[in-house]
Amino acid sequence: MSAGKPSPHDSAALHVTGRARYTDDVPLPADTVHLCFGLSPEARGRLNGLDLAAVRAAPGVIDVLTAADLPFANDVSPAPAPEPLLATDRVHFVGQPLFLVIADSHLAARRAARLGTPEISEDPPILTIEDALERGAPELEPPLTFAQGDAEAALPRAPRRLQGSIHIGGQEHFYLEGQAALAMPGDAGDVTVHCSTQHPSEIQHKVAGALGLPYALVRVETRRMGGGFGGKESQGNALAVACAIAAIRTGRPARMRYDRDDDMVITGKRHDFRIDYDVGYDDAGRIAALDVVQYCRCGWSQDLSLPVADRAMLHADNAYHLPHVRIRSHRLVTNTQSATAFRGFGGPQGMVGIERIVDHVAHALGRDPLKVRRANYYRDSDADAPAPEADTPTPTDLPGDEASRGMTGAVPEPAVHTPATDLQTTPYHMPVEDCIINALTDRLAETSDYVARRAAIEAANAGSPVLKRGIALTPVKFGISFTLTHLNQAGALVHVYTDGSIHLNHGGTEMGQGLNTKVAQVAARVFEQPLEAVRITATDTGKVPNTSATAASSGSDLNGMACKAACETIRQRLVAFAAERWQTEAARVRFTPEGVEIGDEVLSFKDLVQAAYMARVSLSATGFYATPKVVWDRRAGKGRPFYYFAYGAAVTEVAIDTLTGENRILRTDILHDCGASLNPAIDIGQIEGGYVQGAGWLTMEELVWTPDGRLATHAPSTYKIPACADRPRAFNVALWDGENRERTIYRSKAVGEPPLMLGISALMALSHAVSQCGDGSVYPALDAPATPERILRAVDRMRGEPWGAE
Ligand code: MTE
Ligand code: MOS
Repeated sequence: MSAGKPSPHDSAALHVTGRARYTDDVPLPADTVHLCFGLSPEARGRLNGLDLAAVRAAPGVIDVLTAADLPFANDVSPAPAPEPLLATDRVHFVGQPLFLVIADSHLAARRAARLGTPEISEDPPILTIEDALERGAPELEPPLTFAQGDAEAALPRAPRRLQGSIHIGGQEHFYLEGQAALAMPGDAGDVTVHCSTQHPSEIQHKVAGALGLPYALVRVETRRMGGGFGGKESQGNALAVACAIAAIRTGRPARMRYDRDDDMVITGKRHDFRIDYDVGYDDAGRIAALDVVQYCRCGWSQDLSLPVADRAMLHADNAYHLPHVRIRSHRLVTNTQSATAFRGFGGPQGMVGIERIVDHVAHALGRDPLKVRRANYYRDSDADAPAPEADTPTPTDLPGDEASRGMTGAVPEPAVHTPATDLQTTPYHMPVEDCIINALTDRLAETSDYVARRAAIEAANAGSPVLKRGIALTPVKFGISFTLTHLNQAGALVHVYTDGSIHLNHGGTEMGQGLNTKVAQVAARVFEQPLEAVRITATDTGKVPNTSATAASSGSDLNGMACKAACETIRQRLVAFAAERWQTEAARVRFTPEGVEIGDEVLSFKDLVQAAYMARVSLSATGFYATPKVVWDRRAGKGRPFYYFAYGAAVTEVAIDTLTGENRILRTDILHDCGASLNPAIDIGQIEGGYVQGAGWLTMEELVWTPDGRLATHAPSTYKIPACADRPRAFNVALWDGENRERTIYRSKAVGEPPLMLGISALMALSHAVSQCGDGSVYPALDAPATPERILRAVDRMRGEPWGAE
């Protein structure tokens, strides 16, 4: 089966039978050494000394390294600002690696790592956004502002106005497979690294930097991850670098994996946010002016926080046209884990902000929030208007050989095309050309019977003092592309063997999202071969170089196109060969599921391939793709950071127990836009999983730090992720029937992250349920996660109980 078909995940059988091999399952040579970090017990202070005598004397210990022992760069940062692998003179959070134990077993390394005695002169840590603001903590960079119209002037002119603030907690990735790496020393000073990472090329660069090697001497391989969710974009660097250093130092393979507690204590999580708002609106709830300030808790190092905070700003509008808006963003440095990428990459926090504002406005007006949402939506675009071509041809559009496909040339400068003048623009001045949110919302409201159910719920609530139900419909408009424009490129390598089987490699990584299946479907479609004929191999920096992280939901958009380009190169060679050999026109050579039609003959794919081989035709090719049209100036807050938007909407119904605050999702209806889906089965899986992960973030997953900076919730015993029983009792997911107006791979749309934000409807449904308590005069103002405790306090506030005060 090929692109467009609901083929199962290519590793589904391996996953469910436990045979799928992850980094920690790679069979080890007998002399492998095992590593563990010794961690800082303090959140902030000067590291005056480090007594490691007991560590060195512990059973099984081979060597112990501190920052002073590192051969070259002590840096595992994914950003220009350095981030030490091992602390030097200061410590910045509880859990920061201080030293590295090399031992003969995993357990021996772990036991020994606990025996270090650091001497730290403590300073009071800055843990929360409030701490950071009160104590004037540093920011990663000067605050950023995006603006459209004149919010300051328009606010006082608006007929109505209100202010508020929401706290949004972070989130632990809780990938099932923890961070893991394995490094094998080569015989020429080179090293091969197996790593659970979304970004093999960055691991290659960091390892090379740490060993003083050229990139060419470092090869990184990733077969698959047991989940990444953004937590393996940069957080695997430390393990891989540690393994590589240990491997070169000992001349033996080196392996490291974090146990779950260490993983949670050491690695970064989703960014916490506080969003303050001042909104002017009219009697219909139309937002006339909006001033938003986003405070983003970045943790101790820069990591990916700047683009994450940017993306939060870029989604502060979600699906709403804001004629007069100002969005300011502060990136606060704190003594906590370095917050990092997490599905949605800041977008979800920005979106929660505006959904909260709309909900608040609707409550103040006593209107159904859906009406207020509808009143503010961007206008739908003309669905029939085709997207204009990019002014500059993309490499895959160019005719000719591989060289002109960009493998040797520079990426062409993208050109901005002139938009139609009546299009509404985002707060970053990008015209919204592909909007379908009105039609999509109307369809979902109808299929979910939203209006009648809302009325029935409110009527039932009036007679139900203890249990209250709530319902909400929220939209998603998510921008697709890396905002760092140059990352929007990908490569692929395809070989056709003489038996007709196809070997495929691309720059993306497989983390459960089904990328390999989708890319294989593309190859199968180009050659009209069954999917089983296509074999995708582990991601390997030695096969496809200079790759971007598999992130920003762009995996299939980018690698699918690169794969298509490579396959088409080979197909064109086969066509040219066949036309010549069988003396017919190229147009009369057609690949079909029944075989290759060449004039009046039909040959099997295998026979054609063999004949081409005998005629000395190359059956191997690279492919390259660079996304057209994207341009972005983040300091100016202007441009087209996204190639297109993915849309969706969800209706969630919840029930709360007003005596305990307990709550549950009763029913969820989703309509989501995947363009012309590459694989409807996988896409529905992404939508269901994304929704549950988003709802979990906003309703039950709570990270708690003690006042001295220890992460109290460092295991599943204290950190609650959604379980099977927490999924919606009724879960109706449908795909929007449409295609991408931009020329993406077979007109599909990216699906990895956008559905997470459908989970916002759960938070808004809880807001509705809580607002049904009391006389309706008080706004619930739920912070996230809306845990039972928070819901109970909010219910008490509604009812005027003194203990409901925050
Ligand atoms: N789905 C599964 N099963 N596991 C994951 O780790 N990561 C998400 C999403 N879906 C993830 C997932 C994130 S954060 C991103 S950016 C995309 O998948 C990355 O893959 P894609 O670009 O191929 O969609
Ligand atoms: Mo996803 S947060 O872009 O890895």
